[in-house]
Amino acid sequence: MKKNWWKKAVVYQVYPRSFYDSNEDGMGDLKGITKKLDYIKALGVNALWLCPVYQSPMDDNGYDISDYYHIDPSFGTDEDMDELIYEANKRGINIIMDMVINHCSDEHEWFQKAKKNPEGKYGKYFFIKKGKNGNPPNNWRSIFGGSAWEAIEGTPYYYLHLFTKKQVDFNWENQELREEIYKMMNWWLDKGIAGFRMDAITYIKKAEGLPSFESDGEDGMVSVSYGSLNQKGIGNFLTELRDRTYGKRNAMTVGETAGVPDEEVVDFISQENGYFSMIFDFSYCQLNLFEPNYYWYETRKWTPEDVKREMFHSHGLAGEKGWLGVCLENHDQPRCIDHYLYPDGRNYYGASMLAVMQMMLRGTPYIYQGQELGMRNCRFASIEEYDDCSTKNQYAGARKEGYSHKEAMEFMFDMSRDNARTPFQWNKSENAGFSIKTPWLKVNENYHEVNAEKQMKEQGSIWNWYKELIELRISSEYTEILTEGSMCPIMEEQKNLLAYKRVWQDKEVVVLCNYQGEEQKAQLSNKWKKVIKDNYGKVISEEKETLLLRPYEAVILEM
Ligand code: GLC
Repeated sequence: MKKNWWKKAVVYQVYPRSFYDSNEDGMGDLKGITKKLDYIKALGVNALWLCPVYQSPMDDNGYDISDYYHIDPSFGTDEDMDELIYEANKRGINIIMDMVINHCSDEHEWFQKAKKNPEGKYGKYFFIKKGKNGNPPNNWRSIFGGSAWEAIEGTPYYYLHLFTKKQVDFNWENQELREEIYKMMNWWLDKGIAGFRMDAITYIKKAEGLPSFESDGEDGMVSVSYGSLNQKGIGNFLTELRDRTYGKRNAMTVGETAGVPDEEVVDFISQENGYFSMIFDFSYCQLNLFEPNYYWYETRKWTPEDVKREMFHSHGLAGEKGWLGVCLENHDQPRCIDHYLYPDGRNYYGASMLAVMQMMLRGTPYIYQGQELGMRNCRFASIEEYDDCSTKNQYAGARKEGYSHKEAMEFMFDMSRDNARTPFQWNKSENAGFSIKTPWLKVNENYHEVNAEKQMKEQGSIWNWYKELIELRISSEYTEILTEGSMCPIMEEQKNLLAYKRVWQDKEVVVLCNYQGEEQKAQLSNKWKKVIKDNYGKVISEEKETLLLRPYEAVILEM
């Protein structure tokens, strides 16, 4: 594979539980993904990010790994994984594995041994400490609620978990542990995978001495961010990790890297010697929430201007040296139509404008399963119907804050991670063609209108629009400019117009997104040569160099 091949990649993210059920148990599996590879191929992508499929008690749906070397039986067998890699590669699709190495499951053999002998070899793989006067060792609050420490029954010891109490944090200071991790990652690379999505990777370094901090809530606790997010010295860990594993192999990595300050962005993503091939730009993903706790009941209004400002800021930081992963959705976020559009834009035009905004940026685009169909958020009938651990915790938090059940449910409808995890909508048959058995999670009721079979046949569908944009990006005469070209915002002052140009050698492409439900004029500095794409089909231009943009119109021009 060519150096920096990921620049010419479009990645499709699969959440295996919800993609396709091949063995009729109501849950998606690896054979199901292999069966549907031709669908993924038809869209035109060339890489597939697979959310975790390793052995796991599924407390956080696979982000709690109990054995890194084997596939969880609910997803199939180790041979099914080999088959998926083989069949994907045959179709020119590279497999990117989700790599969760900030923590493992409490059911992992190492932690089982650590619990038995906290002062022994395996105890040192984790943060295990004695409590203080019957209290946990410090006042950190876990990301999924409650203390970040859990007592080990029958002992004076506690262990640290930034996420659920079944996700135990590794002690990265321990060299033996690091060696185990490198060995395991190299083993996966040897199997023929093309890289990793690095889960929660900026949490691996903890503040020395694990100190308490001033509380930021009435519970007396403080967000774990203060002592565990992008801490000083993390660069040494990330450098070693890269050099001992993927760095030697031209493998692609994308970091889930909360908390990287502006001045460090290039260290993470420089195409010369960054820690990763790219990191996700999440700058505009939670504009409606407040740091550092992101309570779903504490929201604020956002505007398209905020999205624009944050997005351009990140791209400015990445500049020519760096490279970003660009996404609008993933398995932790609501559906983009509901998340980034006001109600007047939740239609074909809004959805296709978002697609243009994302797909033409500098950076590798990620499409989350169902995004290409315009799948939508889903309202669940009760809190019990939800599966996601974070939703349950956020609901309890909202109730504790004094919100009624009805009010709390509204927050869940907007923000729940299960919005993105409902079964993929293949066709209009029962359970949207996902499974003939009752699916593990509710199917969105709109599957008669929104499904793959219908959209693939329909000219002018969201699916066909994504397909066209992917082709434009990675296999057309514009590929060089859309991948290698620089990116520069234009007409930044004009409200609700998100516009930028891509420049490569003597070529220039201009992208205009009218991010509002009203018309507006866009005055360009010179006349375009060609309209490459327009989600309305045809531009309106009464005067030379001026375009009249209709609600949520998106235009791509060659200048
Ligand atoms: C990442 C994953 C999320 C998971 C968490 C803990 O943020 O995307 O789904 O819950 O890490 O592993």
